[in-house]
Amino acid sequence: MGQTLTEKILDDHLVDGELNVGEEIGIEIDQVLTQDTTGTLVWLQFEALDLDEVQTDLAAQYCDHQTYQFDFRNTDDHRFLRSAAGTFGAHFSRPGNGICHNVHKENFARPGATMLGSDSHTPTPGGLGELAIGAGGLDVSVAMGGGAYYIEMPEIVEIRLEGELPDWATAKDVILELLRRESVKGGVGKIFEYTGPGVESLTVPERTTITNMGTELGATTSLFPTDEHTKDYLDRLGRVEDYEELSADPDAEYADQIVVDLSELEPLIATPSMPDNVVPVREVAGEDVEQVMIGSCTNGGFEDILPAAKMLEDHDIDPTTEMIVAPGSKQASEMLAREGWASEMMAAGVNFSESTCGACIGIGHVPASDSVSLRTFNRNFEGRSGIEDDNVYLCSPEVAAASAIAGEIVDPRDLADDIGLDVPGFELPEEYYGADTDLIPPEEAPDDGLIKGPNIADVPLKDPLDSHLEGPALLKMDDNITTDHIIPATQDILMYRSNIPKLSEFTLSRVDEDFADRALDSDGGFLVAGENYGQGSSREHAALCPMYLGVEGVLAQSFARIHKANLFNFGLIPLEIDEETYEQIDQGDDVEIVDDVRDAVESGQEEFTIRVNGDWEATGLLDASERERDLLAAGGKLSYTKQQHESGE
Ligand code: F3S
Repeated sequence: MGQTLTEKILDDHLVDGELNVGEEIGIEIDQVLTQDTTGTLVWLQFEALDLDEVQTDLAAQYCDHQTYQFDFRNTDDHRFLRSAAGTFGAHFSRPGNGICHNVHKENFARPGATMLGSDSHTPTPGGLGELAIGAGGLDVSVAMGGGAYYIEMPEIVEIRLEGELPDWATAKDVILELLRRESVKGGVGKIFEYTGPGVESLTVPERTTITNMGTELGATTSLFPTDEHTKDYLDRLGRVEDYEELSADPDAEYADQIVVDLSELEPLIATPSMPDNVVPVREVAGEDVEQVMIGSCTNGGFEDILPAAKMLEDHDIDPTTEMIVAPGSKQASEMLAREGWASEMMAAGVNFSESTCGACIGIGHVPASDSVSLRTFNRNFEGRSGIEDDNVYLCSPEVAAASAIAGEIVDPRDLADDIGLDVPGFELPEEYYGADTDLIPPEEAPDDGLIKGPNIADVPLKDPLDSHLEGPALLKMDDNITTDHIIPATQDILMYRSNIPKLSEFTLSRVDEDFADRALDSDGGFLVAGENYGQGSSREHAALCPMYLGVEGVLAQSFARIHKANLFNFGLIPLEIDEETYEQIDQGDDVEIVDDVRDAVESGQEEFTIRVNGDWEATGLLDASERERDLLAAGGKLSYTKQQHESGE
C-alpha cells in the first residue's frame, strides 16, 4: 500500500514507535519557532535543562504578539529573547518585523521538513509542504535541545479539491467552507492532507491561508503537496534551492475523504463569535460596519493586501468606517510602500499599523462598544478583540475592502456591479524583498549571555514524585474549567509570564481570589474538578503555576487533552474520578492517596485508592503512557530531561 505525504514525512523523521493511529510516536524535529509570549519560558526552560546550543537545523525567535512595548516588562522580555537567541544560536526577529508564521514562511519554511512551534497557528507552512505542529513551550525547548517530539499518531484525512475558484471567491472562502461543514471540532485528532486537481489552481500564499486556519478546525496540522507553484514561490523568495517535489503515492489510503468543489464557492463570512458560524456574505449584507481590519497571520501577506489596495485605487473608505491594515510582515509593509500601494491606500483613508499580532489578541484597535468589526483574521471568539460582547466577523480581504468602501457588509460581486469594481485577482510579486536588517542570524548576534530584567525569574523545578501524597482539596470546581480560568491572559497578568512566582499569585483568581495564598500555606494538596478540566488554549502556565504553588495533583471527572499533557510535563498527577466521588468530596477535605504512589506510577498501575478524611475511599484512574509515567515519576519533563542528559542518554 502506498503512503500519504504525511506518512512519508513522518517516516523520514520517526525515532520511536510505529505509524498506527492512536499510538504514541516520537519524531525528530528540523526547525523550531517561538514567539514573544511563549518564548521567554521556552528559553528559561532551555537554560534550566543545562543546554547550551540549539541542536535543530534551525530555530527562530519572533517578537510579534506584543510589539508596542507600553510596559518595560515587554521590552525586557524582548531584550531577553534577543540575548537568548544570540547565546543559544537562534535567529532573532526584531519586534515589528512581523508575525512569526509570516516571517517564517518567507524565510525558512522548507518542503519535507518537520517544524515545532510554541504557537497554535504553527501549521501555516503546511501550504508549502512543511509538516508543522503547534506544541507547548517545554516540548519546543526539548526538541530544540535535540529531543524527539511525542504525539499520538493522528488520523490522516484527505481533502480533495476540485475545480477552480470563481471571481471574488478566495482561499479564505475554502477554509471558511470547511469550517462551515466540519465545525471547530472537526479536525481534532486529525491531519488534513490536500489533494486533487484543484490544488494546482492555488498559489502557495493561498494554500497557507488554508493551512493557517486548519487550526480553527482543531486539526493537528494541514499539509499540501509541492509542485511548480511551490518552486516558483520559493524562487520569488530567492531560495529555490529549498524546493523538493513531494506528494502522496497514488494508492495512498486515507481515514476519510472530504471533497470541495472550488467552482461552487462564493464569498463567505464567519459571523460572531465562532470561526465556524459561516454563511454566504449576501445573507448578512447591509449590516453597518464601523471597523475593518486587514492583516494577521491568515491574510497579512503582500499578495493578500494587494487586491484590497487595487479595489481602493479609485474608491474612498466610507466616512462612518475606519480601516486599518496591519501587514503580517515588515517585508510586506516595505514592498507595499516601495511599490506605491501603501500611499494609494492611505489616500483612500487607510491607517497602517505595525506588523504585529496586536489587535488579534485585543492589544490595540479595540472596536467601539456595540459595533461591528470586520476582520481578515482567523479567530473571533467573544471578547478576544479586547471588548466583551464584541461583534467580530471574519472574511477575505476582498470582502473587507468592499465593505469598507460601502460602510456596511457587502458581497463584493454586488458592489462591483453598483460602482464598477474590477476583479482584483490574486497575483504574486516578481520577487519578494525588504526587511533585510530585521532578522538577525545567530552568527551575527552578540553572544554575551542572557540579559534578564527584574521581571524575568528562573523556572522552578519540581522534586521527583513522592511515595506518599496527602493534602487538602484546595479548591472544588465545576465542569469546563478553562486554562483562562486557571491563568487569565489579560495584559495586566500576561506581563508576568516570565516570572512564575509573580504570575502564580493570579492562579485560579477568577474562581477564588484566595486560592494562591491558601495553596502556598498548605504545602501540598489537590484540585478537584468536574468534566473537561483545562480546556482552551495550550498555555503551559496553567500547569506550571499550580505546580509552583505546591499542588500535587488534580482529581477530575475528565481532562482536556493538551492540559493533561501539560500536567504530566510539570509533574502533577491527573486522576480521573467518577461523578459520585466528585459529588462527595468537599473543598477542605483531607485527601490521601493510599498506594505507594511513586512505585505504582512506575509499575504501570492504573487504579489508585483515594482516602478522604480518613473516612471513606474511592478510586482514581491514571490513564498514562509509559513515557508519561516516567515524566511524572521524575517530577516533570524538565527534571526528566535533565536526568537523561546527566546520565548521558
Ligand atoms: Fe498572532 Fe493572531 Fe496569528 S495572535 S499568530 S495573528 S492568530
